[in-house]
Amino acid sequence: MSEPLRLGVAGLGTVGSALIQLVHNKQNMLADRCGRTIRVTGMNARTAGRDRGFSTDGMKWFDNPADLAVSDDIDVFVELMGGEDEPALGAVKAALSAGKHVVTANKALLAKHGVELALLAEENGVLLNCEAAVAGGIPIIKVMRESLTANAVTRVFGILNGTCNYILTRMEAEGMTFEDCLADAQKLGYAEADPTFDIEGNDTAHKLAILASLAFGTQIAGDAIYLEGITKITIADIEAAKEMGYRIKLLGVATRTAAGVESRVHPAMVPLGSAIAEIGGVTNAVAIEADTVGSLMMSGPGAGGDATASAVAGDICDIAKSKPGRQHGPVLGQPANTLVPHERSAMTAHSGGYFLRLNVVDKPGTMASIATRFAEHDISLESIVQKRGATDDGEAPIVLVTHETSEEAIGKALAGIQSDGRLLGEAQMIRIEKLNES
Ligand code: HSE
Repeated sequence: MSEPLRLGVAGLGTVGSALIQLVHNKQNMLADRCGRTIRVTGMNARTAGRDRGFSTDGMKWFDNPADLAVSDDIDVFVELMGGEDEPALGAVKAALSAGKHVVTANKALLAKHGVELALLAEENGVLLNCEAAVAGGIPIIKVMRESLTANAVTRVFGILNGTCNYILTRMEAEGMTFEDCLADAQKLGYAEADPTFDIEGNDTAHKLAILASLAFGTQIAGDAIYLEGITKITIADIEAAKEMGYRIKLLGVATRTAAGVESRVHPAMVPLGSAIAEIGGVTNAVAIEADTVGSLMMSGPGAGGDATASAVAGDICDIAKSKPGRQHGPVLGQPANTLVPHERSAMTAHSGGYFLRLNVVDKPGTMASIATRFAEHDISLESIVQKRGATDDGEAPIVLVTHETSEEAIGKALAGIQSDGRLLGEAQMIRIEKLNES
């Protein structure tokens, strides 16, 4: 058997602790499969000396992750600290420059610095594996980077944040408040250190940025994504969606269009009964539409210690099995210096159906004037329903569903309705995602 593969693990939170226990508990199985043992020989975390529920025998403590990253005691630097900049960035760069392989679950870091880090890994002939950065336990990176090499992808989309899907699922099933659902997600270890990143869509955007690069051969462009989270979704929206035959999901969608790549994160209506609508709780799903394979979808646990540690361990095992001195494949599916700049298609050009929930003034002519504003912008209505009688204050709730139109036209129609003085409060607008399911 070859020499053991020695790991330096930086970050001992939910995922780091689960990984260390996994490597320990399955050491014989991993050794049989990889042809060498895997050992954790170095570690770093923000706080030293804390009992984390596992033995630290044989693991050297480092106060500074960058020192661990270049230590002679390790072969692979496993970065599980999180954060888009320092100290993760410096430590990963130091490891790659020192010729150490890196495994990371850090989507924020990759969304911002992924191309630079991929170039550095490729220059130094080492691997930068990041399976756990997207959709937790689902092995989607490997599928896109390797198995779909012969495909031109047209759209990649999915449910990429377990916390948001968990919240939306429980709000619908149990009528629980948004806040209570979020508190439970935090307790269960699904949410990011700062849950704003989950609920405002940033975490989904980080993952989508990586998927879009793999799908279209473009540089990762984490800042070129339209972003809307789930904080404005109410039980009223969820119920109205259901009555219209839809369910609300936070989707990340990247589509190749004639005008560039349209990347967007927002709550979306998906038809009840569709495969993506059935993805509940912390489960994630990634769907790919491509010219050769057609459509495929993978689903599985998108967050949580064990599921994420499974993906990290898979990346480590790939390194353990790799032959010393052999050229490694590119980090992002093609050499990082051949990735083309990401050309962003404007959101105003987005085309699709729209769900609108409006509170309007209850007086004769309101429906007619609303319909006129839509007609002015060539928007065809699939349905327009008054949800119930007007309140004592003369306010009537209306739900509209449009046929396919442009985001620009919807914006203009809503501005017109507003200027007619018919709208009370803000309109709720949720995009309907067109699926290619039969
Ligand atoms: N906070 C993330 C989620 C964890 O809820 O999906 C995995 O990135």
